Amino acid sequence: MLRLTNRQILLGITGGIAAYKSAELTRMLKKAGADVRVVMTPAAAEFITPLTLQALSGNPVHLQLLDPEAEAGMGHIELARWADLILVAPATADFMARVAAGMGNDLLTTLCLASDAPLCLAPAMNQAMWRDHQTQLNVQALQARGIQFFGPASGEQACGDTGWDEC
Ligand SMILES: Cc1cc2nc3c(=O)[nH]c(=O)nc-3n(C[C@H](O)[C@H](O)[C@H](O)COP(=O)(O)O)c2cc1C
Repeated sequence: MLRLTNRQILLGITGGIAAYKSAELTRMLKKAGADVRVVMTPAAAEFITPLTLQALSGNPVHLQLLDPEAEAGMGHIELARWADLILVAPATADFMARVAAGMGNDLLTTLCLASDAPLCLAPAMNQAMWRDHQTQLNVQALQARGIQFFGPASGEQACGDTGWDEC
């Protein structure tokens, strides 16, 4: 079993309905002894407040790439070097597409590019989005690069569908 005591986990949260689960995940990682820093995409901040994640992680939440104040403190390269592991939960279809394409158009994708730490993704989306041909090609490309996947699990979805979706 993975030991989490004193492990430095960068938890990425993207803009899916399962973002609400990231609060509990943060709490569980902290309880297991990990030092957690949260990075949210702008879309994620529409689903769950940075304040909640700040309170649960005990660290400031990182949101913007082009933020002079953040760069004066723990800037994006420091944050990329700090991480022992990057875990993105939930990972949207759009986020996976951006990572698969090698994009760095926000803080979280830039960190994925700039870090040598292992990257783990917990995809969560509507079952049709998950089955989409391009999403599956992106997943295969990411897996071929050694990126580890957790889930998706199967069950009832927020949109009313049943299928593979939430982490
Ligand atoms: C109510 C709502 C729920 C959404 N849920 C999901 C989801 O569960 N998974 C997903 O991949 N996209 C979902 N989306 C679409 C993403 O929010 C959208 O693709 C966004 O651009 C993702 O941005 P990000 O990857 O930078 O966080 C949802 C959109 C809305 C409006």
